[in-house]
Amino acid sequence: MRNKTFKELIENNRIYQNFTDKLDIPQAYYSLPVKTVCQKMDLNSDLIFALLSSYDDASDFPMVELTCFSIAEILNYLKLTHSFYLKKKLPEIEQSIKHLSNSQYELYKQLQVLCIIFSNYRKKLEEHIYYEENTLIPYIEGLLNVTIENTFRSDIYDALKVFSTEAFIHNHHEMETELQKLRKAILNYSNPGKPPMALSILMLQINHFDIELGKHAIIEDYVLIPKVVELEDSLFNKISGKSILNSKNKKCVNIKH
Ligand SMILES: [Fe+2]
Ligand SMILES: [Fe+2]
Repeated sequence: MRNKTFKELIENNRIYQNFTDKLDIPQAYYSLPVKTVCQKMDLNSDLIFALLSSYDDASDFPMVELTCFSIAEILNYLKLTHSFYLKKKLPEIEQSIKHLSNSQYELYKQLQVLCIIFSNYRKKLEEHIYYEENTLIPYIEGLLNVTIENTFRSDIYDALKVFSTEAFIHNHHEMETELQKLRKAILNYSNPGKPPMALSILMLQINHFDIELGKHAIIEDYVLIPKVVELEDSLFNKISGKSILNSKNKKCVNIKH
């Protein structure tokens, strides 16, 4: 992986295209080694390699490697990913469904159903991302600021007492169920013979997006949240002299998909 170029990675697996698009890597850099691209774009190469290896199904998910990075670094990556989903991936999939509806008249009625399923799914995903961007991330950044400034803040103390990690994890599970419904609906449209090219492209897009969201959710549930729970505990301990893990009964070790 370390000596490979993005071009080689993409040729081996198209899923890496999502990664280069997300980081806005110029096409001209595709044939350079990943490490060189990181230097040119001022990216943390260790973080990039850890993230890239999360797409490699031949090896384990790089949980330990990713846990070594700071909460701020992980948040930056997640925010970038959110913007990529909202501005690029969701509109792209919507466009593909519309294109299919216009070109496959015999599937028109079924595709109308798919349009409804997709728009419901998109709405839920957008709500979820806005929740993370407007509630979860500011809350975590507040905790980080308190840690840096080393001052007592009553709003952070109140937030520490009420924020529910469990509700956040539950929300993730709901998202996955919605996406599964969408994929099932798409699979129902492919006839036993050769599916139309546009439908195959759409299925591939959905499949890649599904993988992409899965990686994103793992980073949030298993890398970010445990680190935040640890930070909360140390702050709560500092403020009240008690462990937040006992007082709130947070299930930091029972995080499951
Ligand atoms: Fe997210
Ligand atoms: Fe999420």
